[in-house]
Amino acid sequence: MDPVPLARWQFGITTVYHFLMVPLTIGLSLVVAWFHTRWYRTGDEAYLRLTKFFGKLFLINFAMGVVTGIVQEFQFGMNWASYSRFVGDVFGAPLAMEALVAFFLESTFLGLWIFGWGRLSPRVHLATIWAAAIGTVLSAYFIIAANSWMQHPVGVRFNPDTGRAEMIDIGAVLTNSTTLAAYPHVIAGAVMTAAVFVGGVSAWLLLRDRRPSDADAAALQRAVRLAIGLTFASGIVVALSGHFQTQLMFEQQPMKMAAAEALCETETGPGLSVFAVGDVSAECDVRSLVIPKALSLLATESTDATIPGVKDLNAQYQEQFGPGDYRPNLIITYWSFRAMILFGALASFGAVVAWWFTRKGRELPRRYIRTMRLASLAVIPMPFLANAFGWIFTEMGRQPWVVAPNPDGLPEVRLFTADAASNSVSSAMVLITLVGFTLLYGALMVVELFLLRRYISAGPEAVLLPGEVAAAPGPGSDDTGDDDHRDDGGRDDGGRPDGPDGTGRPPTEEADVLAFAY
Ligand code: HEM
Repeated sequence: MDPVPLARWQFGITTVYHFLMVPLTIGLSLVVAWFHTRWYRTGDEAYLRLTKFFGKLFLINFAMGVVTGIVQEFQFGMNWASYSRFVGDVFGAPLAMEALVAFFLESTFLGLWIFGWGRLSPRVHLATIWAAAIGTVLSAYFIIAANSWMQHPVGVRFNPDTGRAEMIDIGAVLTNSTTLAAYPHVIAGAVMTAAVFVGGVSAWLLLRDRRPSDADAAALQRAVRLAIGLTFASGIVVALSGHFQTQLMFEQQPMKMAAAEALCETETGPGLSVFAVGDVSAECDVRSLVIPKALSLLATESTDATIPGVKDLNAQYQEQFGPGDYRPNLIITYWSFRAMILFGALASFGAVVAWWFTRKGRELPRRYIRTMRLASLAVIPMPFLANAFGWIFTEMGRQPWVVAPNPDGLPEVRLFTADAASNSVSSAMVLITLVGFTLLYGALMVVELFLLRRYISAGPEAVLLPGEVAAAPGPGSDDTGDDDHRDDGGRDDGGRPDGPDGTGRPPTEEADVLAFAY
């Protein structure tokens, strides 16, 4: 058995899995930093509840994202040694920057934020969550830059003696047009993921039979409203940046563009296919419900552009790069592109429905409570699916290349996926690790869902500590905030449900911090 398809499956499974955690981590870091800022500025206890509650969920997810991300980096050296040899000089730089600058920033300041409650001055404590959020967002930039280089290699020369691509311009690598277009798309997709998560979780808590306390309800309603606004805003950015990406794809990876549309023949002024009935990979006369001229317009901003089809491009590449099949899998590219847009649209539709029910300060109605409760949970996976299909499209549409040739770059800087694997790793080895990772990741998912369910069910109140109430630090105060945070403030804890530890013990200061951290 050929180890290459197994190694590809392994990379695909571990990447899609890893990218379930990543967008939520990126988006939640910003949302939690925003809640914390609102608390710091207004002293409104609702924001403290939201900061701590979603902060806890953020930490669970962050931990899982880190664990699964490390596996990705190891795979380059283990399964893809020929790839690493060819591109290591250039690909390693943004990955190293990610680890040394962004990840250290993110994890160090996150640690300070976790253990800084009541220990750091309020202003410094607020700064730590922003530093962690900036680290998270920066981290995504370096990873996107590394990935974009595989889609559109720039800033390198080819060394014929070693047969390697060598970096000559890190600036060009970091400002690759593909990166600049993909980055806002990925960040907006991440914000949408977090917004829908925050909105869905909050709506579910508001609608479940065990009603939240008044204070929790007030906080959760605010979270729903923020989530609606963020989903709309991120939806607009995702659509606009996706449009720019489509235009770049037309120039940089025309085969991916044609494959996304199952456009087999070259056409002038082609329409945009909404869906297809039949096998898009056979003869491409199955594109159904075509919006006339729309593909031409989206790709080039002109209604009568000539868009090359899969067959012509294949013939062109055969002439340019030698015999072979240069078509990606059309079924996957065509449908994953549509799935990404469909699931993003469903998430936005959920926000429209939520906006309708909560307009002008209305509370979520309890009339269709079962349906509403179900819908608030059902909408949460939509952006996750959109993200997963987005990556599947981007990476599968690049095939058969692992490093796609840049039409305006050096023709030697290109590498087939089939030539990128390690020569010394057998199929049996890849198969064993593939099965191992799949089982391990399945188990980790059970743990993640168990933890999330546990802390979500407990609600925001459970994350607060007895006596930790409204007295917010406020911009004026800059002492350690110990007194402020722990002031009783007259809050009645009588109705407070047991925290996730279920003990209801009055905490010591140590337990206080740990209760949040763990
Ligand atoms: C109108 C809606 C959308 C359009 C036109 C669009 C367009 C695109 C295009 C053209 C690519 C491929 C870029 C390349 O291969 O170079 C892409 C990739 C991607 N999309 Fe979308 N997209 C849309 C909605 C969404 C939504 C709603 C999400 C997630 C919530 C999303 C997440 C992604 C991700 C994660 C990738 C892979 C990373 C990348 O290449 O940017 N997309 N999208």
